[in-house]
Amino acid sequence: MIILSTLKVLFLLLFHSFLAEAIDFSDKETAAESWDILAAYSQASEWPNLSRDRAIGIRAQRDVSANVTIDYIVTPGVDLSRVVFEPYGYNAGSLQYLKTLMNVGVQTFVLDLYYDETNRNWLLCPKSRLLNDTASSDISECSISTFNLTSLITTMNQFLSVTNNDLDINVMFLLVRLNSLSSTGLSFKANVTDSNITSLSTAFSGINKIVSPSSIDGNALPTLNNLLFKLSQRVFPVIIENNLPTNSTYDLSVDKTTFFTFARSSAFEQPVPGYPTLNLELQNSGNMKCQQIDLPANSSSSLRFSYDTRSSPFTIQSYWESVQCGYSPIISHSLEDISNISTFLEVSSWAWAPFQPTVTNLDELNIPNLFSNLTNRDLPAAFTTSNYTSTALQKSPEIITADNNNNTIISGNNEISDDNPDDEYVNRCAAISKIGWIATTCDRKLFAICVNIKNSSDYAITVEKKSYMKADIECKALDGDYQLALPRNTIEQNYMISLIPLHEDTIWIDLNSLSSENCWVVGVNSNCPYQLVVSNHIFVRMITPSTVMALLLFLLLFVLQFQRIPVHKNRKYWRKLLNEKLKNDYDGVPS
Ligand SMILES: *[C@@H]1O[C@H](CO)[C@@H](O)[C@H](O)[C@H]1NC(C)=O
Ligand SMILES: *[C@@H]1O[C@H](CO)[C@@H](O)[C@H](O)[C@H]1NC(C)=O
Ligand SMILES: *[C@@H]1O[C@H](CO)[C@@H](O)[C@H](O)[C@H]1NC(C)=O
Ligand SMILES: *[C@@H]1O[C@H](CO)[C@@H](O)[C@H](O)[C@H]1NC(C)=O
Ligand SMILES: *[C@@H]1O[C@H](CO)[C@@H](O)[C@H](O)[C@H]1NC(C)=O
Ligand SMILES: *[C@@H]1O[C@H](CO)[C@@H](O)[C@H](O)[C@H]1NC(C)=O
Ligand SMILES: *[C@@H]1O[C@H](CO)[C@@H](O)[C@H](O)[C@H]1NC(C)=O
Ligand SMILES: *[C@@H]1O[C@H](CO)[C@@H](O)[C@H](O)[C@H]1NC(C)=O
Ligand SMILES: *[C@@H]1O[C@H](CO)[C@@H](O)[C@H](O)[C@H]1NC(C)=O
Ligand SMILES: *[C@@H]1O[C@H](CO)[C@@H](O)[C@H](O)[C@H]1NC(C)=O
Ligand SMILES: *[C@@H]1O[C@H](CO)[C@@H](O)[C@H](O)[C@H]1NC(C)=O
Ligand SMILES: *[C@@H]1O[C@H](CO)[C@@H](O)[C@H](O)[C@H]1NC(C)=O
Repeated sequence: MIILSTLKVLFLLLFHSFLAEAIDFSDKETAAESWDILAAYSQASEWPNLSRDRAIGIRAQRDVSANVTIDYIVTPGVDLSRVVFEPYGYNAGSLQYLKTLMNVGVQTFVLDLYYDETNRNWLLCPKSRLLNDTASSDISECSISTFNLTSLITTMNQFLSVTNNDLDINVMFLLVRLNSLSSTGLSFKANVTDSNITSLSTAFSGINKIVSPSSIDGNALPTLNNLLFKLSQRVFPVIIENNLPTNSTYDLSVDKTTFFTFARSSAFEQPVPGYPTLNLELQNSGNMKCQQIDLPANSSSSLRFSYDTRSSPFTIQSYWESVQCGYSPIISHSLEDISNISTFLEVSSWAWAPFQPTVTNLDELNIPNLFSNLTNRDLPAAFTTSNYTSTALQKSPEIITADNNNNTIISGNNEISDDNPDDEYVNRCAAISKIGWIATTCDRKLFAICVNIKNSSDYAITVEKKSYMKADIECKALDGDYQLALPRNTIEQNYMISLIPLHEDTIWIDLNSLSSENCWVVGVNSNCPYQLVVSNHIFVRMITPSTVMALLLFLLLFVLQFQRIPVHKNRKYWRKLLNEKLKNDYDGVPS
């Protein structure tokens, strides 16, 4: 018995380590099968956990933007009322959805608060729901004892405290709408109105690492790195709408040390007069101004958010355009199921292409029509044969529709043999394509994009296609002080995309994971800043007493029977076995 289960663990261990290293799907898999593999590792199939691809991608994107001021940061957002509370109820159970959303990488939340003018308490429940509660006895919503601002903040804090580490920390925006609720003449029960939240400042000061307006100049925002690591703050509380009447019994002036608001550009009235302002833009997604902004990107930008409406909800295409435009998209319509947000999240990175970087060692560039197949599933048009004019900022409604478009993304001379012995280096280097960065094999021969060290708005393309290792050398060989370039924000991204030569689908950028799998760094010789943490992180989960035992046994076996484990000779066999295994067991990746 023990031996059997140990063997099982042993096999799993073997399986794990091989999966992480030795799979190369390029040989026989068709595009459709590859798609299925991609889909299996997608956010949708990992729900409610953050998919490993996205965890790695989000971290790389954050690190690349470390020195970028936070007005260039693009975050996925949701309107909590529309996406969570209305469909799932104003109750404690919905707070679990909030938790899940934070886990899968949603960083911007719109929160409605209701001030009960009669009882002088802040509530999370709108009047219509309270009325329904009184009318019907079966609905048990809005129960103050479990669903109140304090419990919501506790839920946020749980997430914030587990992600307060170098690997996972990120910025968050809490956009608040203040509403008034008059309960005069209505007999609400105390168990729905007595929240005992009489001061917003007191409640919000309980948020872990909340950004204090006194420490930040709202018109000259800090870099992401300074915010997170120097100021050690991460949650922006912003009042975006104030619907309290002028004769409200709540005195908002006392909260101006806690909240930001923003100056409206059109009307001179700001939501809350006298509050510290953030340079912030909030646009209906139909009105986004995606004009081309010239390089170098000035820091006098603003935090930009776009929202959709019930009548014109985001499509994958418009969501993606918002991201490329530098507007953080806030989903404000209810979804069929909350997990359906996965598809949006898959295109929520301004940097990486959808499903990138992949953990499967599936090199998407080797698969004919894979991306055009993606576009058929309502993802952004990837590689159109047409002239890509300047940026993704332009509305490009054309979605490639036919699989028979001769539209593969394999560059002409694909010199990668099926038998590439160097599995270690599969998908360890990043190239930029029209839909973002793609992790691919470093041996691929591509042009590279270079930037002038002395003039950061002067870019050039190398004259010869070389492997990633030689890309920087090719840049240095150009006339002038050039080095391999990397886009740090959406503006640079769009600009560099516009420089991809006609007839080329991808060109090298300065990003690789050579030093450590799953840790993307700038420069060929750079080390992963989290190497120890990353490997511990991954390793700790695998180390349970039984796996330690199995590992010891395995080592023993290995030592004793070295000759009998023909791993290397039978590599292909292993691959085949693993491929087959993978089809039935997508969960087998250590994460
Ligand atoms: C696209 O995906 C569908 C469904 O998986 C598949 O049947 C089709 O063959 C794929 N097309 C290409 C060109 O890969
Ligand atoms: C999510 O993560 C938890 C804890 O790591 C794990 O127990 C659970 O199986 C995961 N769920 C899925 C769907 O992967
Ligand atoms: C950010 O700037 C600092 C100081 O200029 C530099 O040391 C660091 O490498 C930069 N980080 C990134 C990710 O560019
Ligand atoms: C209130 O209850 C009625 C009937 O139960 C329902 O039709 C209506 O949608 C509810 N309103 C809200 C805001 O939940
Ligand atoms: C509040 O208490 C009343 C009885 O006093 C009960 O009928 C109702 O279900 C309670 N509401 C909630 C939300 O707990
Ligand atoms: C708010 O919710 C928390 C957590 O459920 C609970 O401990 C607290 O008592 C609630 N507050 C009130 C005033 O009921
Ligand atoms: C209401 O909050 C105050 C502090 O804000 C606290 O002292 C008091 O015990 C709370 N009352 C209830 C019933 O929770
Ligand atoms: C505020 O004024 C409106 C009428 O202008 C009135 O109906 C309402 O009761 C007032 N509210 C308070 C809290 O005095
Ligand atoms: C960008 O900043 C430079 C100086 O930092 C300034 O001269 C230029 O006018 C700015 N451009 C825009 C469009 O604001
Ligand atoms: C939404 O998610 C549900 C459950 O996962 C699924 O059945 C449904 O097809 C999804 N809808 C869309 C439009 O993706
Ligand atoms: C591509 O753009 C250039 C300049 O913007 C233009 O001269 C050329 O005709 C365009 N090519 C195609 C195929 O549209
Ligand atoms: C696709 O293009 C290649 C060369 O670019 C050509 O050899 C091939 O015949 C084309 N296939 C189709 C189906 O048009």
